Amino acid sequence: MRIFLDTANIDEIKEAASWGILDGVTTNPTLVSREGKVDFKTRVKEICEIVEGPVSAEVVSTDYDGMVSEALTLSKIAENVTVKIPMTKDGIKAVSTLSKQGVKTNVTLVFSANQAILAAKAGATFVSPFIGRLDDIGNDGLNVLADILEIYKIYGFKTEVIAASIRHPEHVRQVALLGTHVATIPFKVLKLLFEHPLTDKGQIRFLKDWEEYQKRLS
Ligand code: G3P
Repeated sequence: MRIFLDTANIDEIKEAASWGILDGVTTNPTLVSREGKVDFKTRVKEICEIVEGPVSAEVVSTDYDGMVSEALTLSKIAENVTVKIPMTKDGIKAVSTLSKQGVKTNVTLVFSANQAILAAKAGATFVSPFIGRLDDIGNDGLNVLADILEIYKIYGFKTEVIAASIRHPEHVRQVALLGTHVATIPFKVLKLLFEHPLTDKGQIRFLKDWEEYQKRLS
């Protein structure tokens, strides 16, 4: 499973990249807006310089022509830009056009298996079902993810599935077990993946025993 970071924050991206486990980054308009007065395209370029893997940058146009034009501009920022396009009729039409031109796309705001089928048919590089937001409204996000993975397998769709809107470490374990291709994880959840009380306890014990051993030697 590849790990993407779901953020537009440079410090978080640099830190996660330094751990050697980062395969890509996803941003969205909300995440960019949290960064204050940054220029969007400059920020995407900065992220692409840190991360070798796919970096998702989202269009904000809602019509076909606007989305295609924005996507072409964004895709020129760096080779690893993936253009995020919302799951609408115009969005799917734009993905069909862009995929024929070799522009990498990530269909976002996906909440059902049927939407994911349309994204795959349009030739999307990635599809992003939002697990947490489905759970938030009392649906089962993991069920939707499992259906998408199964349907893609049955038909041999090439589109890769990004489990998005991940809220906690348990989501990460569950999406990994389902065989998702990618999990895009917020920084605070990614940091939690390191944690286990027995690791901390064990490390304290190892260091204490080592210190006592050194004292005995001297
Ligand atoms: O980037 C898309 C997705 O991961 C958003 O997550 O937490 O806003 O539902 P969230």
